[in-house]
Amino acid sequence: MKILVTGGTGFIGSHTVVELQEKGFEVVIADDLSNSFIEVVDNIEKITGVKPIFEKVDLSIAEETRKLFEKHKDIFGVIHFAASKAVGESVNKPLLYYRNNINSLINVLEQMQEHDIKNFVFSSSCTVYGQPDKLPVSENAPLKKALSPYGNTKKICEDIIDDVAAASEINAIKLRYFNPIGAHESALIGEYPQGIPNNLIPYLTQTAAGIREFLSIYGNDYNTPDGTGIRDYIHVVDLAKAHVIAIERMINNKCLSKTEIFNIGTGVGYSVLDIVKSFEKVNEIKINYKIVSRRAGDIEKVWADTAYANDELGWKAERTLDDMMRSAWNWETKLRIEN
Ligand code: UD1
Repeated sequence: MKILVTGGTGFIGSHTVVELQEKGFEVVIADDLSNSFIEVVDNIEKITGVKPIFEKVDLSIAEETRKLFEKHKDIFGVIHFAASKAVGESVNKPLLYYRNNINSLINVLEQMQEHDIKNFVFSSSCTVYGQPDKLPVSENAPLKKALSPYGNTKKICEDIIDDVAAASEINAIKLRYFNPIGAHESALIGEYPQGIPNNLIPYLTQTAAGIREFLSIYGNDYNTPDGTGIRDYIHVVDLAKAHVIAIERMINNKCLSKTEIFNIGTGVGYSVLDIVKSFEKVNEIKINYKIVSRRAGDIEKVWADTAYANDELGWKAERTLDDMMRSAWNWETKLRIEN
């Protein structure tokens, strides 16, 4: 059964391709390589023994998207990751984010309708909840005004998917990810941040590798036990597996409605200092850090209510924080040896 994975050479996409292939799915990757590398395709083959089909496509261009679907008429389902995702950049270049993220979605859904492809899994984010009023946050929580154009594209895309599913044969599962980190245990795939990393883990591993002088911890005056921000960090391999389960749910006609939403997190929140301590303990490396002022747009704390995903989707995160820290460091070390 053929699955189209857009953004399949990216961080979460590449791990999902591995899990799909290991379950016997045939995968077509569509990616414009704007934030990833073609070598990822060979590395996926090294892990799974199978080379996924790769198509270089800019999905924000309708004609390119049309050609992709014309070439692959036998697609069963689409997992749509392809999107720009740097929060800070989106504030400075909102139109880039609206054009890329929203046009891609529209083009893909249009072609799915055109070719009678009914199954769609969307890469959403807990960013749609903003700072929730109640923690852990469940799928029924009200959505808050987005703090960045990036976050807003996720909200807008979710709305578009609801409308299209209601008006067509398309079924959708929207997965709201919490904070995906770590890397495949082979250290053959992982996250390639471009330039200075914005996210905590790549900055931390680059500090450990001596590329950055110190990690800035953005605020220790939050209303949390140690004052630093709390997030629900999830191992990218656990997250990838949730996509395979979502596709299998569609194959087995288990969806309860035309669009379903699941939180994909561990249900446990860790502070920035917890992360630093876990990294130091597992990898036996001391991290230089400084407490600096809060980062604009950051929320204080969020972690997932995972009961619905656990019970209804039949998925549960299995990897520990230590697994995440170990694999993130293995990946960083391997990158440094190779480059
Ligand atoms: C952000 C986005 C999220 C997106 C994710 C991945 C928002 C509100 N969140 O998550 O939607 O999916 O990026 O791109 O838009 N921190 C430091 N020092 C650093 C970096 C981070 O202390 O150098 C802290 C942050 O203040 C935060 C935590 O570490 O408390 C996690 O930050 P980060 O990894 O950037 O992810 P989010 O901002 O949670």
